[in-house]
Amino acid sequence: ASETVNMEENMRMTLPDSIQQWLQAVGEEGARQHLRTYLIGGVVRDIILQKGNEDIDIAVEGDGIAFASDIASKWNGELHKHEAFGTATIIWPDGLKMDIASSRTEFYEKPGSLPDVESSTLKEDLFRRDFTINAMALALHPEEFGDLIDHFSGLDDLKRGAIRVLHNLSFVEDPTRILRAVRFEHRFGFAMDHETEAFIAQAVNAIHALSTDRILAEFQRLTAEMPPGQLFYRLQKLDVLSAFLPGAVWDDSAERMLPYITSLQSSLFMTLLPLFLQESGRVLSAERVAVRKQDKQLVRHVHHLLDESWDASIEKPGDFHHTAARVSPLSIEIAAYCLEYSAGQPEKAALLRQYQDKWQDLPPWVSGAELQRLGLRPGPLYKFIISETEKGIINEEITSSREALDYAESLIHSYQS
Ligand code: CTP
Repeated sequence: ASETVNMEENMRMTLPDSIQQWLQAVGEEGARQHLRTYLIGGVVRDIILQKGNEDIDIAVEGDGIAFASDIASKWNGELHKHEAFGTATIIWPDGLKMDIASSRTEFYEKPGSLPDVESSTLKEDLFRRDFTINAMALALHPEEFGDLIDHFSGLDDLKRGAIRVLHNLSFVEDPTRILRAVRFEHRFGFAMDHETEAFIAQAVNAIHALSTDRILAEFQRLTAEMPPGQLFYRLQKLDVLSAFLPGAVWDDSAERMLPYITSLQSSLFMTLLPLFLQESGRVLSAERVAVRKQDKQLVRHVHHLLDESWDASIEKPGDFHHTAARVSPLSIEIAAYCLEYSAGQPEKAALLRQYQDKWQDLPPWVSGAELQRLGLRPGPLYKFIISETEKGIINEEITSSREALDYAESLIHSYQS
């Protein structure tokens, strides 16, 4: 066996004192109860890399919830049990949060079935994780505090910059790991090894089975960490972009649109992402990924502007008026980009932009008060007459308040007779 690597020095350098003290206390209490305790997950990776991370995940070789209850009551922690998962969260009086899990519940089902039950249960826990660099543990037991447990050569992979899965079905079991792999590649400047990349191809069906919520949550994490263009490029290269976002392609037109949509607030960005990545001329159902009601509405508006079969009849900016008036200025902007880059209709996009410019400083020539003075009884006709008059102003068929009032009056007469 290779020599044990001890990371106590790295822990001292990267973890705040308070966390170190908690970890020592947990290790000591575990020892008193004859339980081994470990620090596991991403924080181990980050301690080795000497990067800050205060996400404290602890594995107990035994009943994690019972252990968490013990120490929480002993040291006045606030305990939250998650029985279904065999885990608990403790919030300590100093605010530190700590997740505690049983490294394996089968521990109780087959006691003594393995010569070294303790370390093998931890090993099985680690084996279920995503990548070797995330599947290491640090012992907290006082006699081995800081010892690195590395069954899958995670340390070597960290040193050579490799993202490597632990087994061939890892991505099939959890296809969001593909997105995590891309995120870690970017974050650390690492690369998946060839075998890991090859396993992705076998997980395409599993990607299709993912819920929209899970995909979006992962995309949100990704786009918070890396430029979306790089993300799409990488996913397309891995041949899974359209598996995650149905119909999506990353091409020149999508790339041209990107700076615009990345300036949107993140929820809108996520909603519109598939719309911007759609294949040229093809209207994609972005509603699938629009989760919130307001997002769905926005997508519908944009689609409406794209779908209207005006193509032949559109001649003036005002021709958009009746549809566009229901749409927010932001959606109009978005629709213009879609028209230009996705649908390949730059002339239509130019008209829509002209429309928006004019609409934004529309002179208030005809108002409800004016219509009332002209003797029109308040009712649904108000909205129609104002809208028709606005359309005339946008198309420059009406150029003064006098003309606007005359036009409104003529409409009133034609509808009242
Ligand atoms: N994990 C996994 N498969 C996933 C998500 C997480 O195996 N789909 C495991 C990994 O071992 C990971 C740990 O759960 O290290 C904790 O997950 P999370 O906190 O999401 O990941 P971190 O690695 O800590 O990443 P980050 O630094 O972005 O928080």
